[in-house]
Amino acid sequence: MNERANIPVLTIDGPSGSGKGTISKRLAERLGWNYLESGALYRALGIAAINKKLDLSNAKKLTELVDGVDLEFKRNQQGRWVTYLDGEEIQRQLQTEKIGNVASKIAVFPDVRRSLLAKQLTFRQSPGLVADGRDMGSVVFPSADYKVYLTASTEERAKRRYKQLIEKGISANLRDVIQDVEKRDQRDKNRSTSPLMVPEGAVYIDSSCKTIDEVVQQVLDTLKTNRPNNGTNGGLRQ
Ligand code: DC
Repeated sequence: MNERANIPVLTIDGPSGSGKGTISKRLAERLGWNYLESGALYRALGIAAINKKLDLSNAKKLTELVDGVDLEFKRNQQGRWVTYLDGEEIQRQLQTEKIGNVASKIAVFPDVRRSLLAKQLTFRQSPGLVADGRDMGSVVFPSADYKVYLTASTEERAKRRYKQLIEKGISANLRDVIQDVEKRDQRDKNRSTSPLMVPEGAVYIDSSCKTIDEVVQQVLDTLKTNRPNNGTNGGLRQ
């Protein structure tokens, strides 16, 4: 058995705007575990493709690019995660709506997904991993010890996005944001490879009427009551 297989994994899947990024980061801090933001890999690949002026519908060139990109995630002095592409910080660009849409488009290609899979597995390191994305519990870590599917209503998710954009000083129109959220959901749920779905065995949480702290606590409670069936304590601190 591969030695990483004993390292506990908590997967958090869900659509965009469900709050899984914020919740996953908080959980990783509370548990003292590592964190994989798989969407950042797709987003960074999108930025690399744009920088190299690649045709975003050319699956072969995009797949070749996966091995050529030098991607690093480091914590800055404030403890925030910052992403570097070929040595250059790309955090602000990474979070834009434009790059989110590019990521969703290139994520439909099976070969692109396959090449990113190996990179994602390397994040499983001691003492544990919180993995956030669309296919963490279904494809990347199907035998994860703990699985959560986090969602919220389309309107709530769009409102959250809208608020984030306004706070960043980016002008936005709520109706356009709702349409964007719907379009992205359709693409992520209907692609043929690794579509967004509720993974088998996942705890389903609707965060529409919950605060971040409430959701974090609900997941932590779930971890305590759903210990894995392998006779261990699932890597949780007592
Ligand atoms: O989570 P996010 O918004 O950063 O993800 C951006 C896009 O990347 C998302 O719309 C679809 C794709 N993605 C994916 O296909 N699989 C993942 N595990 C994570 C993201």
